[in-house]
Amino acid sequence: MTQHIAATAGGASGRRAPDPSSGWWRDAVIYQVYPRSFADANGDGMGDLAGVRGRLPHLRDLGVDAVWLSPFYASPQADAGYDVADYRAVDPMFGTLDDARVLIGDAHALGLRVIVDLVPNHSSSDHPWFQQALRDGPGSAARTRYHFRPGKGPGGELPPNDWPSVFGGPAWTRTTDSDGTPGDWYLHLFAPEQPDFNWDHPEVAEEFRSILRFWLDAGVDGFRVDVAHGLVKAPGMPDIGEGGTVRLLADDLLPFFDQDGVHEIYRDWRVLLDSYAGERIAVAEAWTSTVARTANYVRPDELHQAFNFQYLSAPWRAGELREVIDLSLAAMRPVGAPTTWVLSNHDVTRHATRFANPPGAGIQTRQAGDRALGLRRARAATLLMLALPGSAYLYQGEELGLPDVTDLPDEVRQDPSFFRAAGQDGFRDGCRVPVPWTRDGGSYGFGAGGSWLPQPGSWAELSVEAQTGDPGSTLEMYRSALAVRKEHPGLGAGDRVEWLEAPDGVLVFRRPGFVCAVNTTDSPVRLAAYGSVLLASGPTAADRTVLPADTTVWWSAHPVESGQ
Ligand code: NOJ
Repeated sequence: MTQHIAATAGGASGRRAPDPSSGWWRDAVIYQVYPRSFADANGDGMGDLAGVRGRLPHLRDLGVDAVWLSPFYASPQADAGYDVADYRAVDPMFGTLDDARVLIGDAHALGLRVIVDLVPNHSSSDHPWFQQALRDGPGSAARTRYHFRPGKGPGGELPPNDWPSVFGGPAWTRTTDSDGTPGDWYLHLFAPEQPDFNWDHPEVAEEFRSILRFWLDAGVDGFRVDVAHGLVKAPGMPDIGEGGTVRLLADDLLPFFDQDGVHEIYRDWRVLLDSYAGERIAVAEAWTSTVARTANYVRPDELHQAFNFQYLSAPWRAGELREVIDLSLAAMRPVGAPTTWVLSNHDVTRHATRFANPPGAGIQTRQAGDRALGLRRARAATLLMLALPGSAYLYQGEELGLPDVTDLPDEVRQDPSFFRAAGQDGFRDGCRVPVPWTRDGGSYGFGAGGSWLPQPGSWAELSVEAQTGDPGSTLEMYRSALAVRKEHPGLGAGDRVEWLEAPDGVLVFRRPGFVCAVNTTDSPVRLAAYGSVLLASGPTAADRTVLPADTTVWWSAHPVESGQ
């Protein structure tokens, strides 16, 4: 990528008209770093910003365009940093504000853009505003920045409505008044330590504009917006009448998710982002019922990207994959936004483990499944994703083919949902186990000490060191794929794929200068030969018309030969 990268000390430079046809982000490959699990420079067993800085060359060599850092802000870590107590400070466990500034500068010097996480739906219960709200008591102005309500029932002993927390249990917690008697309840769609902001309050909106400016002035190139679909709640906070759990990607519109009012916030932020030089972006973490609703977040005057969770949730079956690809491209086309493909992140079971299990296991499983099969399919799925038009997000460790660690002992688990029995069950720790960098060392090069979650012994051979230079390794496949993507800039461009005839269970499509063939079945298939093989996700047969089971091949696009 040769486009200009925002200067570290960038600043507001007046409103500029957005050019819908430009944009480094349209086909960017963006790598998610989960700081506590990436690299530990100070040897305390927990990753930190200095650790990330030391490993930036890995990202440059991998060939990604940008790095997204999950939260590193001051936080009691009730939800691994997604409970922010001070949005303008770095938590001491990750380093200092200076470390953040140096990291941004170093990344830019290596040609990598930097996206930081923004958590606007809720703060930590340790945030000074929430602490003040508790102190000032019922009816106080401080309480109006959050959602405090009296309970139902004669003594107010029942929650104000039936909303469940995403992490299980009710979305309300009761406070205690200064005289020791039970008081009002407050809303938290996630853990009780994560009270939801009231986005109808002008001070909340103004505070987040200021936080955006703070990090834009520090030189970041963009934001990943946490729970982008949750900020606005339906008027009157009506019951949902299910009393159950929150289903991600549910068909029905919940009164606390994907409300139309959120879009006003993003239009406001877009004006702010566009007022900075250097094409600063925002990507929505929006779990919506359909890709069409996801497209609302990336209308030309809103955010730039939105994760495609429908794609992430698709099983390893050609029909479903093709359907979600077609639906996604069709949904994004009218708003002129790229599709933002993603297969793994810190909240879902890694795709190497998802695809090791039967499709019904879903995106949140703790079953190890058939590891070899999972890895073979994961590699094929990655090459499929990287051949599609649009941007793609990678999650740290997927370039090593890491599986989830499905047998973590309960005593090391930290996922808050693990402790709230009725909801999700703590599966997220399995995809957060620290990255192995070397074959040896207490934590395989993660740091000089241990690692906050134990790494399996088998990970020595999955380390960056073990895989580097091995042409059959997953790491070298990712490096080659990203190199090919750079050599063929048309690959990520556009908004269409041209499907070619293919047998059942197989996808074949043409991209500029290029054909991608994906066999999702468990048997080899015979295809036309489309030219010479540029890259394959696994061993290919000597007969180039044979595509092995669970394998993707990239062909340089020569005119179609009969090949049979
Ligand atoms: C989504 C984040 O990705 C997840 O890790 C977090 O628990 C919730 N939002 C709440 O912030």
